[in-house]
This record gives sequence, C-alpha cells and structure tokens, in this order.
Amino acid sequence: MADGKEIGLMILRLLVGLLYTVYCMLEALVLTLIPRRYRRKNIKGNIALVTGGGSGIGRLMCRQLAAKGAIVVTWDVNEAGNLETVRQVVEKGGQCRAYTVDLCNRHAIYSTATRVKEEVGKVDILINNAGVVTGKNLLDCPDESIIRTFDVNILSHFWTTKAFLGDMISRGKGHIVTIASAAGKFPCNRLVDYCSSKYAAVGFDDTLRLELMAEGHTGIKTTVVCPVFITTGMFEGFQSKYFPILKPEYVAEEVVDAMLLNTPVLMLPYTLKINLLLNLILPQKVLLYLSNVLDITHSMDNFVGRRKNQ
Ligand SMILES: NC(=O)c1ccc[n+]([C@@H]2O[C@H](COP(=O)([O-])OP(=O)(O)OC[C@H]3O[C@@H](n4cnc5c(N)ncnc54)[C@H](O)[C@@H]3O)[C@@H](O)[C@H]2O)c1
Repeated sequence: MADGKEIGLMILRLLVGLLYTVYCMLEALVLTLIPRRYRRKNIKGNIALVTGGGSGIGRLMCRQLAAKGAIVVTWDVNEAGNLETVRQVVEKGGQCRAYTVDLCNRHAIYSTATRVKEEVGKVDILINNAGVVTGKNLLDCPDESIIRTFDVNILSHFWTTKAFLGDMISRGKGHIVTIASAAGKFPCNRLVDYCSSKYAAVGFDDTLRLELMAEGHTGIKTTVVCPVFITTGMFEGFQSKYFPILKPEYVAEEVVDAMLLNTPVLMLPYTLKINLLLNLILPQKVLLYLSNVLDITHSMDNFVGRRKNQ
C-alpha cells in the first residue's frame, strides 16, 4: 500500500497532469490555426510499405505517398491488382515495387520482409491496411473465414511490425499506421468477427504507442485510423441510412495527411468522436435501442461484399 508521502506525490503529479491537459488542448487549438502544409513532415526518399496496396484505399495511398516522393512498396495477395498499382504509380513518375504475399502466412511475411530489406531498403513507414470481411451472422460464419479475418485484419500487424520495427528503433525514426475501422470502436450487426478484429487493431495501436513511449522510442510514431463505410467495393451492399458514406480518395488523403502530421488517432468523419463519448456514457439498453432506431441492426442485410472480379 502507498504511504502518505507517496499519495501526496501522486496528487501533485495528477495536478501537473491537469495543467498538461490544458497545455495540450491549447496546443491542439493553436495547431488547427496553422495550415497543414506548414506542419507536414517530409517523406521524400523514405520507404513506405502498404499492405493491401492492390486495390481500394491501399492503392490510392500508394499513389499519394509516391507523389510526395516516397519509394513505395505494395504487398498484396492479388498479384494483378498489385501490378496495376505499380503501373499507376510509375505512370505518374513515382517509384513502386510490388510483392505478392499472403498475409495469412506468417512465414511468408517474414521472408518477404527480408527480401524488401535486401532489394529496396529499410522501411520508414509501415501502413497495415489490408483487410477482409465475411459479413455473416456468427453461426453462419465458417471457422476458416473467422481465422482468415483475424489473420489478415490483426495478426498480420504483429508480424509486419515485428519485421520492421527493429530497423526503425535502431535509426530512431519511423511511423506505423494501423487501418482499423469505426467497427473497431462500435458494434455492427453481422460483423462479429470483423468488429472483434478491428477492436483488436485499435488495441494494438494504443498499446504499441504506449510501449514505444515507455521504452523511450519517441522518434517512432503511430497512427490508428477509424473510418465509417467507404465506397471501395469491400462492403458492397452495406446500407447506411444515417451515417455518412466516405469517398476512397478523401479517406486515403486524410490517412496520408494524418501520418505526415503525426496525428495519433484519426476518426472519419471527425464527428465520430461525439458518438464515442455517447458510447461511454449512455446505458447499454439505450445504445441497443439507438442501434435499432438508426438501423445499424439492418445495415448488413443486403451485403454482398467484394466480388472476385472486382
Ligand atoms: N471499405 C470500407 O467501408 C472500410 C471502412 C473502414 C475501414 N476499412 C478498412 O480499410 C482497409 C482497406 O479496405 P478497402 O476498402 O480499401 O478494401 P479493398 O478490398 O479494396 O482492399 C483490401 C486489400 O487487401 C488485400 N488483401 C486481402 N486479404 C489479403 C491477404 N491475405 N494477403 C494480402 N493482401 C490481402 C486485398 O487483395 C485488397 O487489395 C481494410 O483494412 C478495411 O477493413 C474499410
């Protein structure tokens, strides 16, 4: 048990924490007044690796990173999509290398990481973006789909980060971006496996950030991204009556910007933070009632997902 002296010291630290909170809030306010272009970091010549770069927001982020002067590496299980990303980046004068890798295979991740280090160099920016969705009720979800969801949406983050973080630490700089989802903060019908994997992705980033700070690796930044529905095709058939639907170009741009600005948490739309607060304070019964009223319970009724030829 803490004695009186320790409790006194703790109270003092809490008061300092309160002052620090006010300072951070003022800092955030001042920063919003400074245009983003003055606050972005320079990534010219950096090596940026994007998983799932063969389509959707992954491809768009590859294009944007290359446009900012980064040497881009895209990893995807879809070879044709991956090569199309390289074509689009190179066409605009950027540099991009594609590696076909199945993120469900931990050994393939490690061996491809070794190849990237030998053939391209040490990774400065890692964007864990690849994702899959099953879109079925738990009892209809085949075990293999649940395992695949966890393999791609969260376990692969462990393997890629373990493969590249050491180099970042030894150079004292780097950035790890976790593409989670609003489904990593809020539940949604027919997404038990998907939401669980995204909640885990949010936890991965939160805890990694804390660990890096505790170990003194302050040069390595992390960003977690939680967007609502995006029209990439991944969630084809998803219906959103009361929540905004985001354009892939907007999301990709905001994610790259969040990384360039060292923003730790990106919620899209930004107003999602209000929902988070409500989620914390409202009783569970009210939250379930609201899910019904806002039709979240039926948003996956017509889900078809990404078709093979998309
Ligand atoms: N589309 C949305 O509504 C939405 C909303 C919030 C978050 N997200 C998240 O954003 C990320 C990108 O999604 P998107 O909408 O661009 O989807 P997308 O389907 O266009 O892209 C996902 C990419 O991941 C790749 N991939 C899947 N399994 C893989 C594996 N085993 N190994 C390697 N690559 C694999 C796919 O081939 C594809 O290129 C995902 O993590 C997704 O969960 C999407």
